[in-house]
Amino acid sequence: MDELIRGGFPKRSVTLISGGPGSGKTIFALQMLISGAEKFDEAGVYATLTETPEELRLDASSFGWNIESLEKTGRLAILDLRPSRFLELKSEGRTDSFFSWVWKNIRLKAEETEAKRIAIDSLNVLSAYFSDEHQFRQKIMSLIEALHKFPECISLLLFEQITLERTIEEFLTDGVIILHYIPVKNGMLRAIQILKMRRTEHSEYFHPLNITREGIRIDPEETVALF
Ligand SMILES: Nc1ncnc2c1ncn2[C@@H]1O[C@H](COP(=O)(O)OP(=O)(O)OP(=O)(O)O)[C@@H](O)[C@H]1O
Ligand SMILES: [Mg+2]
Repeated sequence: MDELIRGGFPKRSVTLISGGPGSGKTIFALQMLISGAEKFDEAGVYATLTETPEELRLDASSFGWNIESLEKTGRLAILDLRPSRFLELKSEGRTDSFFSWVWKNIRLKAEETEAKRIAIDSLNVLSAYFSDEHQFRQKIMSLIEALHKFPECISLLLFEQITLERTIEEFLTDGVIILHYIPVKNGMLRAIQILKMRRTEHSEYFHPLNITREGIRIDPEETVALF
């Protein structure tokens, strides 16, 4: 990944990780946070709005990654911010919006741990709370602005995107990484594309991506022809 974006994600950047079902968004983000914690001792916050924390731990353990030990030592925090949890709290008399609740939880944990890597899985769950596209765009912009304020932090916004059409969200973030998972003659093909990464040069090719027993493997030397 570092080779594709010439030296790693820019600090204070917010990147959209876009892809269809099973394209590897969750694993990509988990792996980013785990490697930050293990190799660089950088704290990570993973806000899950889709899977339960227990499911995420199972995802991780299927690759032999032990996230419980990182959680215990405070290098990784998994925040359960699923709408069902919000509704439980709401029934107990809370009045804030889902978006404010999600952001407050992420902000408090990121400040407490001085997080250097934040993942939000996924943006689509947040967008479901807005019927007005303009209002949602404003909210995303304020979210990105707030994430930019965390010192030296790399943020990943996971985005469920099935079609190859460009979307508004892609214009707002500093970077866009597309995880392609597309049918070819005899099966499915995985590839990664850096659509944009502000403030750095980056590869403009499709590179093969494999999900192996050790996690995601990207080959920066190889390219694939997708279309
Ligand atoms: N232990 C493993 N070894 C090899 N491949 C795996 C393993 N665990 C998951 N995979 C592959 O990764 C895929 C799931 O990846 P991931 O959960 O990151 O996708 P996603 O883009 O987050 O999907 P969704 O949008 O449904 O949340 C599986 O469908 C499978 O192909
Ligand atoms: Mg996922």
